[in-house]
Amino acid sequence: MMLRNLSRMVFRHKFSYNSQPFVQAQFVRCKYYETTGVKGFKGRKVNNYNQPEDVENEDVGTNSTVFDYSEYDIIANHMMNTTRNILNIQNVIVLQPYVKWGARKSATKPELALQEAEALVRSIPTWTVEHSVKVPLESLEKQSVFGKGKLAELKSLIQELRRSGKRITCVFVSKSTLTLNQKQNLESSFGVPVIDRYSIVIQIMRLHATSMEAKLQVAMAELPYIRSQTEEINNLTVKNIRFSFTDEQRQVLKDREKKLKNELIRVRGHRELLRSKRKKENIPIVAVVGYTNAGKTSLIKALTNEQRLEPKDQLFATLDVTAHTGMTPSNLKVIFMDTVGFMSEIPTGLIECFIATLEDAMLADLIIHVHDVSHENYPEQRKHVEQTLRSLLQNSNNADGERLFNNIVNVGNKCDLVNLDDIKQWTVSENLHLISSKTLVGIGDLMDVVEKQILLTTNRKKITIRVPMGGAESAWLYKNSAVTEFVGDPENQQKCLMTVIISEAKLQQFRHIFVNK
Ligand code: GTP
Repeated sequence: MMLRNLSRMVFRHKFSYNSQPFVQAQFVRCKYYETTGVKGFKGRKVNNYNQPEDVENEDVGTNSTVFDYSEYDIIANHMMNTTRNILNIQNVIVLQPYVKWGARKSATKPELALQEAEALVRSIPTWTVEHSVKVPLESLEKQSVFGKGKLAELKSLIQELRRSGKRITCVFVSKSTLTLNQKQNLESSFGVPVIDRYSIVIQIMRLHATSMEAKLQVAMAELPYIRSQTEEINNLTVKNIRFSFTDEQRQVLKDREKKLKNELIRVRGHRELLRSKRKKENIPIVAVVGYTNAGKTSLIKALTNEQRLEPKDQLFATLDVTAHTGMTPSNLKVIFMDTVGFMSEIPTGLIECFIATLEDAMLADLIIHVHDVSHENYPEQRKHVEQTLRSLLQNSNNADGERLFNNIVNVGNKCDLVNLDDIKQWTVSENLHLISSKTLVGIGDLMDVVEKQILLTTNRKKITIRVPMGGAESAWLYKNSAVTEFVGDPENQQKCLMTVIISEAKLQQFRHIFVNK
């Protein structure tokens, strides 16, 4: 208690400008929902699967002290300029710095980078973009971000906007991270809090984290950023520091990190359990990956008909890897994994915390990469996702990573938003299966492709077997394979013809039990 009051006094005393409403340490504690389990079955119950489903939906619970925000929030709010108050209203100016020329010039056009920055702000329902502007620079690495002239220009722009009646409460500089020094300098010029991409993505993730694992990951993801800012204070690289960082607060951060790590190990142990249960069930797993907002959740909804899935027009809407059951045209049960979306210009410290959730996806039998073909920046998005996937697969425990990467099914989503004649040529050369998760165009054909690929990658076969009518053989096949067709044998009334999809291992077992005997 004493520590809490002491730290509050330190901050209140030293950090006093009109950002106070922005960094108020108010927050709403949400109920934690555990949503990492397998959700839904298309149309029917499948034998032996009730038990794992129940287990997967089991609440892993948490140590209630892990999310004690009181001391920590005071530090986090000051370092990240964010608040846990989900109703906080912000009127934001978006500044998109970009390098005009030279080797450091980005392949993404500044207009598109600006659009993405605006989309980040709009992903928080109570935030609005009041004004946005691209800022050409010679380098993004300058100590002060903007040179003197540019800074004066931006300052007078903000003043002008204010005079015209706009209420500006914060400036978002769309750069992956700003140092504490840079933020402080900009804040003294602009007179409002300044945030970077790291802080805004954390804010979005805080909103969207629903499962225990996602909440723990977001909490962990905040720490490298806070640590780098506190190091600046320790190393005295910040001039005119507005607050001091006490030893007690250092300890608060250390304790929090330790608690979060322990809790994550516990929760991930549960995930490991789910993974091995799925493996035992021998159900093919298809991971659906892609750039954020490409339509991963929408595609899974279209493939599984699972009504509970709610696609959202927000970035980082999905923070958990969730599993959803669907059936291929031949009645083969498949688990589709929805995953966290990728985005460029996100600092590695932030993404690293989510990599563990992608482990499930990296151990899948097949990967579907969803592309938004209606997006102007589609080629860059594709490149970014492929690069990230390759490095994730190289670092994963999947010995078959290279094969998984080479067999990716590439899906061009949102084709309802484009003129098909315009994109036909390059979608053919890039081997994209064109679909619309909204109008369901191409979904049936895609399911056929997925089924074919799964048979190849999981060494399954589609075969027809003649078995005695009502015998042990047909009961065994119903239990151990996907039965596609069952018809009487026209040449023998005592027999029937069963068309099944069966793995090589199960086929051997069948032969051993029934044929060799
Ligand atoms: P994150 O979880 O944020 O990475 O997003 P996501 O990739 O799962 O995308 P999601 O399925 O949530 O869809 C994003 C937005 O695109 C939503 O508003 C969807 O309704 C819309 N959308 C998805 N597929 C289509 C499509 O085929 N056509 C159109 N017009 N809109 C689509």
